[in-house]
Amino acid sequence: MKTTETQEFDVLVVGAGGAGLRAAIEASAAGVNVGIICKSLLGKAHTVMAEGGAAASLGHMDGKDTWEVHFRDTILGGKWMNNWRMAEILAKEAPERIRELERWGAVFDRTKDGKIHQRPFGGHTFNRLAHVGDRTGLEMIRTLQDRGVHQGIEVFMEWTVTHLLKSDGRVVGGLAYKRETGKFSVFKAKATILGTGGIGKMFKVTSNSWEYTADGHNLALEAGAELIDMEFVQFHPTGMVWPPGVKGILVTEAVRGEGGILRNAEGGRFMENYDAERMELSTRDIVSKAIYNEVKEGRGTEHGGVWLDISHRPADYIVRKLPSMYHQFKDLADVDITKAPMEIGPTMHYVMGGVKVDAETAMSTVPGLFACGEVVGGMHGGNRLGGNSLSDLLVFGKRAGKGAVEFVESYPEAISIDEKQVDSGVKALLAPFESDGKETPYDVQFDLQDMMSSQVGIMRIADDLKAAVARFLELNERASKVRVEGSRIYNPGWHLSYDLHNMLRVAEVVARCALQREESRGAHTRLDFPDTDVGKWQNLTSVSSCNESGELTVKTENRAIMPDEYRALVEKKIQK
Ligand code: FUM
Repeated sequence: MKTTETQEFDVLVVGAGGAGLRAAIEASAAGVNVGIICKSLLGKAHTVMAEGGAAASLGHMDGKDTWEVHFRDTILGGKWMNNWRMAEILAKEAPERIRELERWGAVFDRTKDGKIHQRPFGGHTFNRLAHVGDRTGLEMIRTLQDRGVHQGIEVFMEWTVTHLLKSDGRVVGGLAYKRETGKFSVFKAKATILGTGGIGKMFKVTSNSWEYTADGHNLALEAGAELIDMEFVQFHPTGMVWPPGVKGILVTEAVRGEGGILRNAEGGRFMENYDAERMELSTRDIVSKAIYNEVKEGRGTEHGGVWLDISHRPADYIVRKLPSMYHQFKDLADVDITKAPMEIGPTMHYVMGGVKVDAETAMSTVPGLFACGEVVGGMHGGNRLGGNSLSDLLVFGKRAGKGAVEFVESYPEAISIDEKQVDSGVKALLAPFESDGKETPYDVQFDLQDMMSSQVGIMRIADDLKAAVARFLELNERASKVRVEGSRIYNPGWHLSYDLHNMLRVAEVVARCALQREESRGAHTRLDFPDTDVGKWQNLTSVSSCNESGELTVKTENRAIMPDEYRALVEKKIQK
């Protein structure tokens, strides 16, 4: 069985969100030949859902902000689970990445004296988020895609990579199909960078869009790479809850940054009971659990949320600072947020766990395979601070691009593709057309989402997690028999049948890691182990891998210990 074509690049980037684009720009600037594949259309990436801003200690609003304070906030927000070296790199390099983006044409909001304006966000000691109203991710993507396209990067839109190909133990590109035609192609490359984002579509309520089906996480696993910290899944405190068709859509943290107040159905400003010092600007893990608790104890709204109110601010200020939120609620929920509160509740937003990479080069444990952005684990530890994802993708996207170029230069010899791997990939992709099963992929995804949200969600307990883990056998069996109708041309059911394969394996990893970590920390809360176990679990990271027949192993490993001088930085009291 032959594929129709082969494309060849020095560096192949899978994913055209901020991380993938930044990596591609870096690699192409070094003079190598770069191809970038996006599952959707260029410009439509989950990066646009980081609306409120990018965190960087530019110090424009408060001269006391430094990389050290940003580092400290990131480690405290991550509950000491972060790869400390990655957090250091992020804090040190983010300001220059923001200035660089501005030089490339990003139009940030300004202070009166013409500097980039910075707003407050949860867990950040100082006003630290460089922003463009509440459309920061969008402006970032616009700037990066402009830069990348003008630099000559070849873009493949609506292609999905389904298998990574290996030769002599190293990754040498991937097999992909095009949505529009269903045709297959081999993308041969000396180095491959994953910038595929997250896993949200395995949950019922999520801010993530349809592309977020754990592709990169599973591609890495199947290529022999390791995933770390997969139990840490972030629920953003504020997603829309009503009407049902828009449930989960993000309500930016910038609403709280601009002074938004959370109240329960009784009118109580409940954050007083959960984090009286930081209130609404507490970290996401704490605010999400507070909302969950208010609803569970009967103080929720009619549709199972709480109220977020910014209407005490002048209407023109709201419309200027939060234009997307204003239109989102007006158009989707018929609510004027300058006059009335928003009904909100937690929505799955981000996964902190992901591919284990070297902090300096972004290479995974498999030669030739690099990763950056949300698909990577370790940077954000047990809970990501809002705004750190946009700086992460700029900082580590650049590093991944550079790391890949250095790798390519150190292996100049030609690579070869093993046709057997290609054929078996194509066969697996076409199998659902031949199945005589009764179910569609949507049936299985529905049950997966239901299970992940109810048993592997914000609050977890051993019995639920064990039941979830046991259920994967049945879900995998059903997924292997799903039937798809029609042809290969624009067939979303067919695409989902493969996405399902990725989601099921990675969902199992999440459930097993969550069962393994017998403590509560950051975004991982165990009702049966409510305390943080500093003695045992602070030094342990969860590591997941799979063998050639797809069998998973989940275990723990000792984490790299932070040097004393960095620990002292984190423990330092900061005067605001
Ligand atoms: O709330 C937000 O604007 C999201 C930001 C982020 O996830 O970093």
